[in-house]
Amino acid sequence: MCGIVAAAARREVSEILLEGLRRLEYRGYDSAGMALIDDEFDLKIHKRKGKVAELEKAQLKQPYHGNTGVAHTRWATHGEPSGVNAHPHISGLRVALVHNGIIENHAALRAELIEDGYEIASATDTEVIVHLLHRSLAIGGSLLQAMQKTVVKLEGAYALAAVDIENPDTVVGARTGSPLVVGVGIGENFLASDTMALRQVTDRFIYLEEADLVCITPDSLEVYNADGSKVQRQVERIKEGLETTDLGNFDHYMIKEIFEQPEALEATFGGAINAEKVENHFGDDAPALFDQVKQVQIVACGTSYHAGLVARYWLEEIAGVSCDVEVASEFRYRKRVQHKGTLLVVISQSGETADTLAALRNATADEFIGSLVVSNVDNSSLVRECDLVFLTRAGIEIGVASTKAFTTQLVALLMLTLVLGRRRGLPDSRQRDIIAALQSLPECVRETLELNESIQRLSEAFIPKRHALFLARGIQYPIAMEGALKLKEISYIHAEAYPAGELKHGPLALVDSDMPVVAVAPNDELLEKLKSNLEEVRSRGGELFVFADTEAGFANEARVKILPVPNCPEVIRPIVYTVALQLLSYHVALQKGTDVDKPRNLAKSVTVE
Ligand code: AGP
Repeated sequence: MCGIVAAAARREVSEILLEGLRRLEYRGYDSAGMALIDDEFDLKIHKRKGKVAELEKAQLKQPYHGNTGVAHTRWATHGEPSGVNAHPHISGLRVALVHNGIIENHAALRAELIEDGYEIASATDTEVIVHLLHRSLAIGGSLLQAMQKTVVKLEGAYALAAVDIENPDTVVGARTGSPLVVGVGIGENFLASDTMALRQVTDRFIYLEEADLVCITPDSLEVYNADGSKVQRQVERIKEGLETTDLGNFDHYMIKEIFEQPEALEATFGGAINAEKVENHFGDDAPALFDQVKQVQIVACGTSYHAGLVARYWLEEIAGVSCDVEVASEFRYRKRVQHKGTLLVVISQSGETADTLAALRNATADEFIGSLVVSNVDNSSLVRECDLVFLTRAGIEIGVASTKAFTTQLVALLMLTLVLGRRRGLPDSRQRDIIAALQSLPECVRETLELNESIQRLSEAFIPKRHALFLARGIQYPIAMEGALKLKEISYIHAEAYPAGELKHGPLALVDSDMPVVAVAPNDELLEKLKSNLEEVRSRGGELFVFADTEAGFANEARVKILPVPNCPEVIRPIVYTVALQLLSYHVALQKGTDVDKPRNLAKSVTVE
């Protein structure tokens, strides 16, 4: 989703801004722009539709320089991706502004500004903000004061950064509902949507709080809260080495991240030898809260939602805890009835997903005994706002299609199952089995990764296809959903997952020789039922691609291709089968020539609803 980088320095900042934008590319975007205040106190602006590389070309052709500037990658919401709609937006050749989020009352503000004589050049919701700033500056006062007067008029979510040629060494920022960090330097200060953008210039950051405003110059940094009072926010140092963005020998981040899973899973599990040690991962306040848990409500979006669906099987079957799972965009707007003793669990790799954050924020103390977040990003909004935090140790995930973040979420949720199960009398022997299974997981995943070439060969059959069906039963059903989501996200093949038992209630009508059907078929108690469903597909000319372990008793035959997945303990099979399906979608996308790491229309961090 949109990305912001801004700088106020004693040195030239165009390259810092461009490098920041490159580092934000993983978030997803469709246009980019940069505004600098040059030596003659003029605003110099490049904006381009498409990649940051296009912006770089523009800068190469017509170099602009300055010590103060703002830059942006835009993910279109209001108005098509185009040069005109790209940020920064300007007003009166004086002020330039970049924005992440959505201004809900933009239409009313637009009408008001037009009445005041402002011409609105773009179709964006953002442009009104820069004219409001300009109108306020024209009356008098500082850029900070103008920003304070502007934000009170805005409804919606925003992270903002603005420059003004009359205050040439200053950048002013504000945030409500969208993240903004301050990068603290020596003789220079920065703003950005996330720390990644600024790691080349600093390791010290301030995570702005909701409704904060900030004013930076090369030598000063002031934060104000919503009341306009100056406040101190803690400067945090980010440890080196946690974020490597080097592709190494891989062609894409997605395949690199798929192959990083053994280490990520191991790091997330942390080598605990018993359930008490597992509990330490949830923090000091966890035991008191876990003691009260009678039910669990999981809320998440997309892939993280699928992790929640898997967790429901584990929590109910192993821990005996009743569990509901819902997508955040529905949960947040629904009138709900929660039962006493419910723990709210939010899952989000980015920790910034707007709907999930809103769901957390509108959950009340009457409804829930407390909240737990499973996230991969320390200091993200969800991490800062939840009572308990489980940080997955996937390392930074750049590919928009989530892979290692998902499987590490599953490890976290199995660990949650263990600690809640222990409280409800889960036998010691079962606890030991789960821990042993988690210990064996990295090796099982390594063995699954060895299937890479076989899966690549299998994937060729999908290239000419426009649709695919994924079938599974039980706990593998959400894994089939995740497999289908991965395939559609990066290869643009329409894919749907069904519980195999639902086949004859509708989707069977779609099955013909043109419909590849992927089955997730480990040898479990539902296998025979699944086999009957697959026969129904075969007898209608469907082509089957069966991911199954050797004990499942499948054999290659006409229109049935078997992908043998390593045998592993049943409880971790959802994770192991996920890895095989990730490889399938990667190879299909690769051969279709799509932009694997940055699929069209998608964003890594979905900070607007
Ligand atoms: C994952 O492949 C997707 N890109 C997407 O569904 C993602 O899982 C969803 O947007 C939720 O993101 P979060 O985990 O950061 O909250």
